[in-house]
Amino acid sequence: ALVFLAMTATAMAGTLEEIQKRGKLRVGMEPGYMPFELQNKKGEIIGFDADMGAAMAKAMGVELELVSTAWDGIIPALLTGKFDIIMSGMTLTQERNMSINFAPPYVVIGQTILVKKDLAATIKTYKDLNDPKYTVASKLGTTGEQATKRMIPKAKYNSYETEQEGVMELVNGKIDAFIYDQPYNIVAMSQKGQGKIVHLDTPFTFEPISWGVRKGDADFLNWLENFMYQVKNDGTYERIYHKWFQD
Ligand code: ARG
Repeated sequence: ALVFLAMTATAMAGTLEEIQKRGKLRVGMEPGYMPFELQNKKGEIIGFDADMGAAMAKAMGVELELVSTAWDGIIPALLTGKFDIIMSGMTLTQERNMSINFAPPYVVIGQTILVKKDLAATIKTYKDLNDPKYTVASKLGTTGEQATKRMIPKAKYNSYETEQEGVMELVNGKIDAFIYDQPYNIVAMSQKGQGKIVHLDTPFTFEPISWGVRKGDADFLNWLENFMYQVKNDGTYERIYHKWFQD
C-alpha cells in the first residue's frame, strides 16, 4: 500500500516536475487554424496559442517547444506523453472532458457559416442548409463536424483533413457551405472570400476554448489556473489577444 501511495504522489506531481527537469515546455498544436496557430513562410508556427505558450514557458523559466500534431490524433498524443499540454484552439466539450482535463476556458467561440455567394439570398441560418440538395463541409474530428452532423443532418456532408481544403472547395464552387469556428472563418473570408463567398457570422453553438492536460495532475491544473488569472489581469493576455484578433 505504501508503494502504491508513493507512486500516486509522483504521478500527481507529474507534469510540472517533468517540465522543470527537462528545462522545456512542450506544447501540442495543429497549425492551420488561424489566428490561433499557423505556419509562416519560414515554416515556423506562430499565432495566439504560440504566443501564449511563450508567455507560459517564460513564467515557468523554461524553453518552449511547439510540437506539430495531426488534429485527429491530438488527444491520444497528449495521453501518450508526446507533449505536456494541448494549446490548439480546442473546444472544451463534455465528451473530450471525459478523457482529459481542461484549464479554465479563455475565450468563447461558436460555429459560423461560409456560404457560396449565389446562395446568400436563400441561406440565412444553418437550418436553411438542412436539405439533401446541399453539400456542407467541415474539418475532420472538430466541433464543426459534430455540429454539422447533429444540426444539419439532412445535408450531404464532406469532411476535410484541413480547414484550408474546405475553404478552397467552397471558393471553387465544389461545395455549398463550410461550417467552422468563427475566428477562422473571419480570417478565411478576408483572405480568400472576397466576391465568392459570404460569411453568416453569427455563431450558432456555444464553445469555450481551453487548454487540455492529462487527468490526475492537480498541481499542473492549479498552476495553469493561477497563470490564467495573472495574465488576464496584468495585460499579457490582452496584448496577445489584440495582436491576433481584430475586435
Ligand atoms: N475548436 C474546434 C475543435 O475543438 C477546432 C479546433 C481546431 N484546432 C486546430 N488547431 N486545428 O474541434
